[in-house]
Amino acid sequence: MYMKTYHNIECDCLEKIQEESLHWIKTHTDLLTDASQFWNKIDSKLFLLQNPTLVKFCLDKKLSIREVAVLITTDDVTLHVDEGPVVAKLNVPLKNTKDTFTEWYEVPEINSMVSVESPFGNPYLDLKNVDLNKCKKINEVELVTPLIFNSSIPHRVRVNSKSKEPRVVLSCMFFKEPKHYLEEDLALA
Ligand SMILES: [Fe+2]
Repeated sequence: MYMKTYHNIECDCLEKIQEESLHWIKTHTDLLTDASQFWNKIDSKLFLLQNPTLVKFCLDKKLSIREVAVLITTDDVTLHVDEGPVVAKLNVPLKNTKDTFTEWYEVPEINSMVSVESPFGNPYLDLKNVDLNKCKKINEVELVTPLIFNSSIPHRVRVNSKSKEPRVVLSCMFFKEPKHYLEEDLALA
């Protein structure tokens, strides 16, 4: 089955989620001033205890969060496929995501490419040396609302080069993956 690259999730409590999340990150980590990598694992259990708005927002959609991570960058993020087996994540914009774009690409001969070990010891596909001119961009999105994100299709992030502030995103992973959001809308097919 073809999988969509992303699906927007309507959210009328985004500001509150951002406020609670950023407060926790600020008071429990130094990531906002001192992040040395893009993908940062945090104490998810402790985080969720103090982020009731996010937890409720997800539970209302029958989504129970297993783990969260904080994604931070001031530079473009090169082409890659996230480490498996997770495919469908909820990405929530926290800070400075306006004018930043996630782009998904179709990469030729991707099946013959070899995974490398991620900083967390799991296999992932680093595609930074792939010539983008030989790839086809299949979609892009400016991350300004929460969305279910397909991390199994090659993607990269373009940041706002004028901004000196880091782009901060919260990525949530669930006990049962919400892959149904990424199924093609049959009515449009
Ligand atoms: Fe990714």
